[in-house]
Amino acid sequence: MKEVRVAILGASGWMGKVHAMAFQTFPHFMGTAHGTARITALVEANAAAADDLAFRAPGARILTDWQAAIADPTVDLIDICLPDHLHYPVAKAALLAGKHVYCEKPLADTAAEARELADLAQARGLITRVGHAFPRNPVHDLAKDIITGGEIGDVRLFKGCQHVDVLADPLAPFIWRADGKHAPTGIIGDTGSHVFSFMEFLLGRVTRLVADNMIVTPRRPRVAGAAEGDFADVTNTDATHLLCRFESGASGIVDFSRVATGRKFRQGYEVYGTKGSLVYDYDQVNRLRLYTNEDRAGRRGFREIDIGPEHPTYAAFLPLPNFALGYNETKIIEAAEVIRAVTTGVPMWPTFETGHHICQIVDACMESARRGAWVDIAA
Ligand SMILES: NC(=O)c1ccc[n+]([C@@H]2O[C@H](COP(=O)([O-])OP(=O)(O)OC[C@H]3O[C@@H](n4cnc5c(N)ncnc54)[C@H](O)[C@@H]3O)[C@@H](O)[C@H]2O)c1
Repeated sequence: MKEVRVAILGASGWMGKVHAMAFQTFPHFMGTAHGTARITALVEANAAAADDLAFRAPGARILTDWQAAIADPTVDLIDICLPDHLHYPVAKAALLAGKHVYCEKPLADTAAEARELADLAQARGLITRVGHAFPRNPVHDLAKDIITGGEIGDVRLFKGCQHVDVLADPLAPFIWRADGKHAPTGIIGDTGSHVFSFMEFLLGRVTRLVADNMIVTPRRPRVAGAAEGDFADVTNTDATHLLCRFESGASGIVDFSRVATGRKFRQGYEVYGTKGSLVYDYDQVNRLRLYTNEDRAGRRGFREIDIGPEHPTYAAFLPLPNFALGYNETKIIEAAEVIRAVTTGVPMWPTFETGHHICQIVDACMESARRGAWVDIAA
């Protein structure tokens, strides 16, 4: 059994905590045949948030400087859970130091940066992974099986969305996610990238798109209740609507937003084919709806399929269907796959190549909105 030594960067944040839990937890459910993880370093710049780190990974070095983790010869895998603008420089430094890299989404601020990272990893034979965990819920393996098996015929239309209301209140305080310096692509890289990961997973490459990007609330209080003089400018996108074309010829209609009042977390897609269709809604996180023309006339309608233990990554957690795997389980599946890729040397979706394609879609949204025109995406 091989052990992969991991450094988690941004350890006290949401993703830092989830990743640490996932590395420590996956062997309980997924076994150790493909290796285990040992967290040997936790990096956190915010001292005030770092005081319980020693408890969370006993024996790990507690660091404040990510460069120290990259320089550590006993670290095999750098796990980047830092704000978006740090992904590219940190991943690049890690790859140059010969480390495997697991990076939260979006992989980079631009497709050019993502390309450079994917090329570096390829040239050095290093394993990469982007933290697009949502499609690793086994319900989406079922959707992909149905699509690639031709059960719904040729796919003609994908409709996808993701909506939250974290910034729907115009007086909700400013956060780094609304700052173009820390998150240059705003909701597009932050949330759109999740929808794009479903598109890539289920349908493959996007070849062109046209997008409308909106800043809905241009200024926000720096802290709750701040006076008008202490407002900060929102310098990235709050919401985007887009139309696209896939390499397969299918069309897409996609929208995502952080200002969708009342939507705490809405995520879903619909896939329409020539022989049937699929509908997924995160509110029923393990359920797929399938419509097929194979059903006889008079009996046609959407059937609900709740995934269960016939899917290996579901069976790893639960012996009965419809007990529900949630967000954290998808991160546990992801952590197991990251370790498996490192120990076997076989990359697993989504690698930095996928991350590059997703960054190309993000870039195209930015360019299209700037130019007010359709934008082609190079293969
Ligand atoms: N895959 C997903 O579903 C998902 C969900 C949420 C966030 N994310 C991504 O994960 C990343 C982190 O998001 P989060 O919600 O955990 O943010 P967060 O603000 O909760 O955590 C970021 C952490 O990084 C630390 N940090 C910042 N700069 C640092 C530096 N130079 N050195 C060391 N530590 C530093 C912060 O103090 C904080 O603890 C983002 O890129 C975000 O897009 C992905």
